[in-house]
Amino acid sequence: MNRKPRRLLTRRNFLMLGGLGVLGTAGGIGAARIESKWLRMTFKKISGLGLERPLRVLHLSDFHASWCVSWEQIHEAVRTGMAQKPDLVVLTGDYVSSRSDDISGYGEALSPLRDFPHCYASLGNHDGRYLPPDSRARQIEAEMGKAGVRFLVNQRVDEEVSGQMLRIAGLGDIWRHEAKPWECLLPAGSDGPLTLLLSHNPDSKVDVEDYAWDVMFSGHTHGGQIKVPIIDWAPLLPVEDRSMVEGIYDWKGRKIHITRGVGCLHGIRLFCPPEISIVDLT
Ligand SMILES: [Fe+2]
Repeated sequence: MNRKPRRLLTRRNFLMLGGLGVLGTAGGIGAARIESKWLRMTFKKISGLGLERPLRVLHLSDFHASWCVSWEQIHEAVRTGMAQKPDLVVLTGDYVSSRSDDISGYGEALSPLRDFPHCYASLGNHDGRYLPPDSRARQIEAEMGKAGVRFLVNQRVDEEVSGQMLRIAGLGDIWRHEAKPWECLLPAGSDGPLTLLLSHNPDSKVDVEDYAWDVMFSGHTHGGQIKVPIIDWAPLLPVEDRSMVEGIYDWKGRKIHITRGVGCLHGIRLFCPPEISIVDLT
């Protein structure tokens, strides 16, 4: 019997494949949107700092309050993190995504911090310039200040935290050309207490190489935000040094902690959920 070869790509099959492709893409985007709200708490440790007692740090970053990151998500990150009873809270910038984003919810979203005495923050590239004439960053500072957050923009404080003296410094953002390490840090080799540096962008490490600090806390990378496992591809990673994405790194005798952050841009994350970081220093 003479059979006609069966055509695999009939019009019907083509339409079905197209439909499956659309559904798969929609499903993938839906899953990525869900993942962007799936807060994960991580616990890490940095040892060898010479502290008399362990010091627990809650590190949150990149809230990106916007159409795709709700006040509830930010509040949940702060509330859940504070339940771990940190000694110190550090926030490392990108509190909004654009100039038009609403900031009026910050006072309430950060309410778990209200009676907490040791919460410091630095600014990110999305927060606007701190220096005049752009006062956007100052508006953010004022709103978050209602919850007790103290901003350090090229400033440092020496403060006793849980019975131990710490130096906490905050660097202006390098993409905003506002980083002035000479205003907030002493030269490398200077005496002083353990120095924690808050700096949004981990690439700033080269700007502070010649200054005295021990541990830098950064965000900015969002952990890559969209990652392809196995080949370890992160197309959206906004840093020059792509070897530092998330976690704890050794760098020239110092430590750098990078958190994936609480919010994100564009409302999607893939294989890279938002993070509430607990870092125990000893
Ligand atoms: Fe960010």
